[in-house]
Amino acid sequence: MQQKTIDQDLTGRTLAELAAGIPGASRVFREHRLDFCCGGDKTLRDAATARGLDPELLQDALRQETSEEGTAEEMTAAELVDHIETRYHAAHRQEIPELIRLARKVETVHREHPNVPAGLTTALEDGYARLDAHMSDEEAVLFPQIRARTDALLDETLSRLREDHAEHGELLGRLEALTNNFTPPEGACRTWQALYTGTEKFVADVMEHVHLENNVLFRRVSA
Ligand SMILES: [Fe+2]
Ligand SMILES: [Fe+2]
Repeated sequence: MQQKTIDQDLTGRTLAELAAGIPGASRVFREHRLDFCCGGDKTLRDAATARGLDPELLQDALRQETSEEGTAEEMTAAELVDHIETRYHAAHRQEIPELIRLARKVETVHREHPNVPAGLTTALEDGYARLDAHMSDEEAVLFPQIRARTDALLDETLSRLREDHAEHGELLGRLEALTNNFTPPEGACRTWQALYTGTEKFVADVMEHVHLENNVLFRRVSA
């Protein structure tokens, strides 16, 4: 796809296709707050217009993304599963407990502050419990089937997992709202800043993770 991006019109392509085929596209979409993981079926033109953005400018930004090795489309399904497990499942499990610890500290120490992210600890704890159960489900059911190349992939499994993904999307929206779009107030302490930086990275990781599953892995194994 990289060669073709030079001369083709990208505005009629879906966000999912573009994110899967152009390294760096997901970062461009995140910067412009275009939902490429759960809302990936929209074309670049429609998604940009809905946000009041110029599709042509976004197309230019995508074209400037330089080529890079190992895009998701070049990996086999089994390689993609390995990548998802190490880059996302393991990272979420390592990072969320620390975010919960930071959130609890900020909510306790800055209880009286008008911008305190009240409820963030609970939102992270709930979100982590659901995400962890979902990842365990993938690791126990879907991923072994993909690695064993069995054809017994159940559409039911995929649609159950897709439903969970939509739920993760709601969690991300909550985190964004609770943290004022990851912007700490003026004079916020280091813990507060670290909490928002870490939460922003977590949200970006989950978007990328869900995108790779919904738009690349699941499509490929159900085809
Ligand atoms: Fe996953
Ligand atoms: Fe998933």
